[in-house]
Amino acid sequence: TSVLVLNGPNLNLLGLREPAIYGSDTLGDVEKLCRATAAPLGLDIDFRQSNHEGVLVDAVQEARTAHRGIVINPAGYSHTSVALRDALAAVGLPVVEVHLSNIHRREPFRHHSYVSAVADTVICGAGAHGYALAVTHLARLLDHAQE
Ligand code: DQA
Repeated sequence: TSVLVLNGPNLNLLGLREPAIYGSDTLGDVEKLCRATAAPLGLDIDFRQSNHEGVLVDAVQEARTAHRGIVINPAGYSHTSVALRDALAAVGLPVVEVHLSNIHRREPFRHHSYVSAVADTVICGAGAHGYALAVTHLARLLDHAQE
């Protein structure tokens, strides 16, 4: 079983970027954590990052036939992108949204995510560990879908 872990803009700079907010783990570390979490659950991970909204929309559309579920950190596009939300709604796969930081404890413009309304689950404020929680929970959603 294969799942997509999709990362939005500026997450390529993880580790360098505002470490007090986002932590010192790099995106490579996050990828390793996702793979280590997924392997014993029998999940294969397609781990991707893009700074471009349309590339993220394409990745979500491709997941419709290539993957069984999606973990997504939409980053800045969480707060702006109707297109990404619509893509997630269109493919109809289980979606777990993850944010490293607790977006509700930050600036008001981060409090609303367009993606949350089409996500099954939202995890925020757990740092990089949130990705491990997200992958674990997606596996659970997929198990329950099979029953
Ligand atoms: C983020 C939170 C967003 O508000 C921000 O734009 C990001 C990262 C997080 O993981 O905490 O780029 O999604």
